[in-house]
Amino acid sequence: MQIQNNFSLKKYNTFGIEAKAKQFVAVQNEAELNTVLKNHSLDKKFILGGGSNMLLTQDIDALVIHIDIKGKRIVQENENFVWVESMAGENWHEFVLWTINQDFGGLENMSLIPGNVGTTPVQNIGAYGTEIKNVFVFCNAMNIETQTKKVFSKLDCKFGYRESTFKNECKDQYIITSVVFKLTKHNHKINISYGDISKELENKNIDTPTLIDVSNAVIAIRQSKLPDPKELGNSGSFFKNPIISKAEFDEIHVLHPEMPHYILSETTVKVPAGWLIEQAGFKGKRFGDAGIHKNQALVLVNYGNATGQEILNVAKDIQATVFKEFGIAIEAEVNVI
Ligand code: EPU
Repeated sequence: MQIQNNFSLKKYNTFGIEAKAKQFVAVQNEAELNTVLKNHSLDKKFILGGGSNMLLTQDIDALVIHIDIKGKRIVQENENFVWVESMAGENWHEFVLWTINQDFGGLENMSLIPGNVGTTPVQNIGAYGTEIKNVFVFCNAMNIETQTKKVFSKLDCKFGYRESTFKNECKDQYIITSVVFKLTKHNHKINISYGDISKELENKNIDTPTLIDVSNAVIAIRQSKLPDPKELGNSGSFFKNPIISKAEFDEIHVLHPEMPHYILSETTVKVPAGWLIEQAGFKGKRFGDAGIHKNQALVLVNYGNATGQEILNVAKDIQATVFKEFGIAIEAEVNVI
């Protein structure tokens, strides 16, 4: 474990933004994490996981602690279920494939989501009809100030749409070190309710899909719509899909009857931000090296040397235009640093 000064974070954020950390250290186990936190109790700290959900708009004037704790294991099993634990620094998609290869069901719809396991509970990642809260059992975390360990149950996490306690009450207080998921060993609940998945399976003439079939379908859809961060810097969906009141929705719907929407409750409706951004004319546009992806308007991209500030300016322009045209405020999903 070595502390490095003035360290480039370009390879540590999927947007590929050049920014420097005043100091940087990668920790490979809980003991190292404990030591770093103790020895630097008075220093400003910044916790870095897979770097897949942040936009760096400036250098980080702090000690950046990269959580690189690896390992995965079966903790417990019975006839029907298996409880698997993954350490925080495992790559999410590799972990998903490891579970699928053993025919453990529950994560297949979340194939190919970028990032590491430790950050998945923070924003309750989700895709194609499921979210990690549906398979999450608990996570282990370390308090940054006191180094005491705490177990967060599903209830403690207060999961919501791309939300959890780690973004709210517990923000900046804990580091998640591992996560435990409960998966099925047979009678898998195959979920192909999301239109794109069933279409993809139909095209391949698959009518009784296995976990691998679903995973492959999700991978194919994601690859067709979402850019690979290794080829084109991005952070997945830059914005959340806004949730508006039914009354507000009714007014907008009269003017835009073609607007896609999902009724969430009697009083709330979710609207796809991607649609709003496309209608506002931004899809596929490029401003210098910052742009909006051509196949999915929710994704902002770095064509090479965009600064975080340039990406942020595009985001602000999108927010203002969408608000002007639809009266709907869209909120960033990624953490703007
Ligand atoms: N749409 C457009 N134009 C676009 C993009 C979308 O009109 O450029 C419309 C689509 O036609 C569709 C609707 O918006 O009617 C929804 O689109 P899509 O199915 O692509 O999903 P999304 O709502 O845009 C969400 C998640 C994604 C996740 C997909 C699939 C959020 C913020 N994003 O996107 O998550 O992969 O559903 O489940 O909830 C991520 O968080 O990084 C991410 C990629």
